Amino acid sequence: MTDDVRRHLAQIPALTGTAPSLDLDGLPDDPMALFLTWLDQAVDAEVAEPRTMTLATAGADGLPDARMLILKDAGERGFAFASTASSRKGAQVSENPAAALNFWWQPQARAVRVQGPVVEADAAESAADLAARSPEAQSLVAEGDWRLWWVRPERIEFWQGSPDRKHLRIVYTPDDAGWRHDIGRADGS
Ligand SMILES: Cc1cc2nc3c(=O)[nH]c(=O)nc-3n(C[C@H](O)[C@H](O)[C@H](O)COP(=O)(O)O)c2cc1C
Repeated sequence: MTDDVRRHLAQIPALTGTAPSLDLDGLPDDPMALFLTWLDQAVDAEVAEPRTMTLATAGADGLPDARMLILKDAGERGFAFASTASSRKGAQVSENPAAALNFWWQPQARAVRVQGPVVEADAAESAADLAARSPEAQSLVAEGDWRLWWVRPERIEFWQGSPDRKHLRIVYTPDDAGWRHDIGRADGS
């Protein structure tokens, strides 16, 4: 049975997207600038729901958990997501304020991978996010339960697939001057 499944899976195409051109000599110093450029390019290319991402967290038990979420904001403060404090993710980030995010823009063979500490927004910012939701969505949230959190990136990887399988990885990490980035090409699939 496993062999059948393996053979079946091997026939299903993967990594079929086509990456836009990328000037490796002109990469910005700030990874958030590159993220916003890639997001804009995904929007311009009409990639479906480009602000959908996976959020991974682990609570005190150390067990990784992940789910799909919507990106609420991105910029100098990092990446924002919102949910209820009473949710599993809410409990996990309260026990262990750290997270990872993944974006995948399939038609462009691009993915972004983020890791960093999580900081809760203040009550006014969380309330403003809740107020921006539809009345129906607001009515489902218990008083005081809605939260906005920021993931402050400490590592951001930009991954771009290549037809020759020499996939491109650009990894940003902090250094004394702000950020450094390292470019690599490796067979990763
Ligand atoms: C595309 C997509 C977007 C979602 N966006 C959110 C979101 O922004 N906030 C949220 O709380 N749940 C969102 N959900 C539901 C979550 O994936 C998840 O089921 C829910 O938040 C409970 O997660 P938890 O039990 O890990 O806390 C989304 C689901 C999908 C499929």
